[in-house]
Amino acid sequence: MKINEVPFIKEMCDTADNMYRLGWDERNGGNISYMIPETEVKKYFNPAKVIRVIPLGFDAKELVGKYFLVTGTGKYFKNVKACPEENLGLMRISSDGQNAELIWGYEGGGKFTSELPAHLMSHTVRLKADAENRVIMHTHPTNILAMTYVHDLDTKEFTHTLWQMSTECIVVFPDGVEVLPWMLCGTNEIGVATAEKMKESRVVVWALHGIYGAGKTLDETFGLIETVEKAASIYMLTAHLPRKNTITDDQLKMLAERFGVSYKEGILK
Ligand code: 13P
Ligand code: ZN
Repeated sequence: MKINEVPFIKEMCDTADNMYRLGWDERNGGNISYMIPETEVKKYFNPAKVIRVIPLGFDAKELVGKYFLVTGTGKYFKNVKACPEENLGLMRISSDGQNAELIWGYEGGGKFTSELPAHLMSHTVRLKADAENRVIMHTHPTNILAMTYVHDLDTKEFTHTLWQMSTECIVVFPDGVEVLPWMLCGTNEIGVATAEKMKESRVVVWALHGIYGAGKTLDETFGLIETVEKAASIYMLTAHLPRKNTITDDQLKMLAERFGVSYKEGILK
């Protein structure tokens, strides 16, 4: 079997490809971590054969024994599909929670994304909220990034504006978005801060940098970020023009009721 016929590798390749073509992931921008059940791993790989042990640099004891397919640091989403073995790695968290045991990938000496702290810390938090959460996705969508330059970064204000930007928003992300101010990326500190925000919402915006999304599948997480980015693009197309019409808070409440979603409190009046 060819490597890109392994279902979860193919899915990851297709997702990175889509994200690249939407212009979200310039150069090495963006990273994805996808938790794979051991039963799936065993169908295609030998988990007893560890190629390399790579120190994590933080404690991941709550994820011991779990397998993650993770994009490599410095690797370009543009190239993932053509060469998954160089650009992706399949790893298991070691029994002491301190290392990544590489089962496949990162050929040529690569390693996992520099944003692994934010990914694994967010997985830990999201798994407590939803046992089926398997994906953390980070990317640099153009309009959400632009919006953080011109919009108030208050989480409630930011969420309210996004919900108003298209009718489906409150249904797709009823838990809103959380916004982090600019912080140094690739650090344990931004990982801790992101995971803390992930307790409240499946979407965390990194001001002046990009976005994090969490979900059950690659498709669902991609769709979540896609919807937020679409809303941000409507905002950027209209923010400088006189607003003639808007979706009112009462209409947002009607939507939530009609679609049976409970939305974040303190945002609608
Ligand atoms: P990596 O190349 O280490 O994944 O970093 C890309 C990025 O988006 C940093 O925030
Ligand atoms: Zn980034």
